[in-house]
Amino acid sequence: MKPGLFITLEGGEGVGKSTNLQFMQDWLQSRNIQVSVTREPGGTELAEKIRALLLEQHQESLTQQAELLLVFAARAQHLQHLILPSLQQGRWVLCDRFTDATYAYQGGGRGLDIQMISMLENTVQGSLRPDLTLLLDAPVATGMQRASKRGALDRFESERYDFFERVRHSYLQQAQASPQRYRIIDASLPLPDVQQQIVEVLTALITL
Ligand code: TMP
Repeated sequence: MKPGLFITLEGGEGVGKSTNLQFMQDWLQSRNIQVSVTREPGGTELAEKIRALLLEQHQESLTQQAELLLVFAARAQHLQHLILPSLQQGRWVLCDRFTDATYAYQGGGRGLDIQMISMLENTVQGSLRPDLTLLLDAPVATGMQRASKRGALDRFESERYDFFERVRHSYLQQAQASPQRYRIIDASLPLPDVQQQIVEVLTALITL
């Protein structure tokens, strides 16, 4: 059987990933494509527990190394128990964030060594990389305004403005370095215009 495609959605806080992931799922399913929708960190029982550890505020500070290792521990569970089996069954996987988020948040945001991230990526994923990545890009201020309306901020959302500038910069750099895999979507536009850009990308993909 032909393996499914692995599509990831990336972007900073408040750029509309959830709404647009739902839109992509509906669009693909209405064209008879079987889709598994999932997210990182998370996606399986244990990976969701690791997600809670990463997102909750704790008395004891989480070290940057522990954060990085937890992100990859969740990813190892997610790959083994959800992503790889789905792809092998011919299902497409739509994933809300993946390793590009580690390069953006732990690499760009926290300033951790990119070589170390790359070593963990190769160890956990082997040669697996997304087939396509949509980057929802919007100015940091726009995204933070939207995110702050959603209620209590999690451990990442509570970071300072310049952290998110570094995250955005890293994403844009990654997109520039991998133009074959990346499509940048202007997420600062009104929702119908954002979704029009997404439809164009998906239409090109299914008519390949
Ligand atoms: P989200 O579901 O709202 O996107 O929250 C997940 C948070 O986790 C988000 O702030 C980004 C962060 N994150 C990392 O720091 N590194 C990673 O590798 C991933 C997947 C997410």
